[in-house]
Amino acid sequence: MALFTRDSIDRLRDSIDMVELVGTKTDLRRVGTRWTGLCPFHDERTPSFSVNSEEKLFYCFGCQAKGDAFGFVEQSEGLDFRESLEFLADRYGVELQLENDDPQAELRRKHKQRLHALLDRTATYYAKFLWDSKEAEPARAYLAERGLGEEVLRDFRVGYSPSAGNRLTAGAQRDGFTMQELVSAGLAQRGQDRFRGRIMFPLANSRGRVLGFGARAMAGSDGPKYLNTSENEIYHKGRQLFGIDQARAHAAKSGRIVVVEGYTDVLALHQAGIRESVAIMGTALTAEQMAELGRAAPLVVLALDADQSGQEAMVRAAQHGNVDLRAVEMPAGSDPADLLAGGGGEELTQLLNGSIAMIQFQVRRLLADADLDTPVGRDRALEEARGLIDAAQPAMRQQLIREVADRLDVPVSSVELSLRAPAATAPRFTRTPEPALPAGASAGEVAFRAEREFLARCLASGDLGREYLARPTDEQLSSEATRRARGYLLQHFDDPLAGLSEEDPVAPLVFDIVHAAEEHPPSSEPLLQMSILQLERRRLEREIRRAAHEGDHSRQSALAAAEQRVRGELDEVMGQTA
Ligand code: CTP
Ligand code: MN
Repeated sequence: MALFTRDSIDRLRDSIDMVELVGTKTDLRRVGTRWTGLCPFHDERTPSFSVNSEEKLFYCFGCQAKGDAFGFVEQSEGLDFRESLEFLADRYGVELQLENDDPQAELRRKHKQRLHALLDRTATYYAKFLWDSKEAEPARAYLAERGLGEEVLRDFRVGYSPSAGNRLTAGAQRDGFTMQELVSAGLAQRGQDRFRGRIMFPLANSRGRVLGFGARAMAGSDGPKYLNTSENEIYHKGRQLFGIDQARAHAAKSGRIVVVEGYTDVLALHQAGIRESVAIMGTALTAEQMAELGRAAPLVVLALDADQSGQEAMVRAAQHGNVDLRAVEMPAGSDPADLLAGGGGEELTQLLNGSIAMIQFQVRRLLADADLDTPVGRDRALEEARGLIDAAQPAMRQQLIREVADRLDVPVSSVELSLRAPAATAPRFTRTPEPALPAGASAGEVAFRAEREFLARCLASGDLGREYLARPTDEQLSSEATRRARGYLLQHFDDPLAGLSEEDPVAPLVFDIVHAAEEHPPSSEPLLQMSILQLERRRLEREIRRAAHEGDHSRQSALAAAEQRVRGELDEVMGQTA
């Protein structure tokens, strides 16, 4: 594929408004020469995310996400580099030039552009026909009865094709498109509209460009239930994921993408707030689709119909992956749309959250299908399970062995014994997300927070704050981290974020403090005095604990007296603030 010229990429970079771009994903606030906000790439309650608008760079002190404007779009939209260039070029109205443009290629591109325009026009036409025409009344009623609201239908540009033979064709021709173009785009056949009297689902690529249509028949009409655009120069079924354009940003954010069978499943899921969902349209997952899913999110959850074709598609999908591929067992005879329409939203959410590793899913599948009543059937099941078990990581391996032993009703050791020989071809599986560490607070943590608060207070209080920031002794700060943060802030008091290096270990703390300072009104002098006294009081308490620990009683009582005095001073200052 031809590359874009360096020059046009540079022009594009120059045109990007980084704050505006990032601002579409998270609210930003100016702090000195930087902009900050909640990180769009991980869940957080206080901001760790920083944008350098001049250099067009971003960095998160929480999750270490970083990059330039193109990287931002790649990560937030789930696009590859080239796609992110195109996305930004669209957004900022910059034309990207290809290296060594040849006239043939130029013609082909123009031709494709026309087909894209035609398909887009067609999607608009069908959607308008669905909402405005008398003829589409039963279709509107049918969709409503299935619980699909107008909002989601409009989001996905769902439409209706008129049953008369040439409404679309005639209109498009009036707009200057040729019959040849209508045929090339898969919209016309033998001089007539290809889709007639059907509910139309536009099939868009990841950037929202319509490439074809899926068309559902109304009940009682003849012909197949679904008619889809056939393979042509722009539509390739094996690459298509229905809903990917709508799902991508949500998948990038949540780190998960859900894969279902059908159009209506995607719509229902989207409507239920599970917007990171796409459909493979009733066929087996292809390697291309799998690659696209992997680009969209590190975790891919398959929620395909419980019927046989669904199951087989899942098993085949496992061979493709370099992603964390998981599966859920859908209740027999129901797809996500049915579940949601029947009020099973909660159940579905739980199902999706309870997805199991593909490998485990496969082992269960295989045990469920095996004929465990005969020795031959049992041997075969064990043989098939072996290939999967050998590919598993140690913890999963133990789990699988237990499940197999349970089902076969034999001791774990006997399953292990028959697993001795390594399997010839074992699929590989990677990456299980790490569990989050539980948080716990200690005495040190409490002191740390108070000191962080003090630093923020100083930072928010102008020249007075600068003066107080210098006051505490190193002993009054309980940790190396807060001591270093104080040192840094003293040096960069006026614009702390500007010189903050990502490599500096104290950077996340400084960032946090700078942000907390944004929330603070300037403090009065008595308040700052109080803060210092409290630091001193806590220092004395630390000393007292140490003296008690060392059994140094005279020192302990001297310290206690000093602490008493500090308390007195605190009361006095408090009187001034009241
Ligand atoms: N499909 C298709 N061609 C068919 C049947 C199915 O392309 N002849 C694809 C469609 O993408 C469809 C999906 O397979 O959405 C799942 O098929 P199915 O479960 O039969 O349809 P639903 O989408 O569930 O449709 P509905 O709920 O309206 O019956
Ligand atoms: Mn269905």
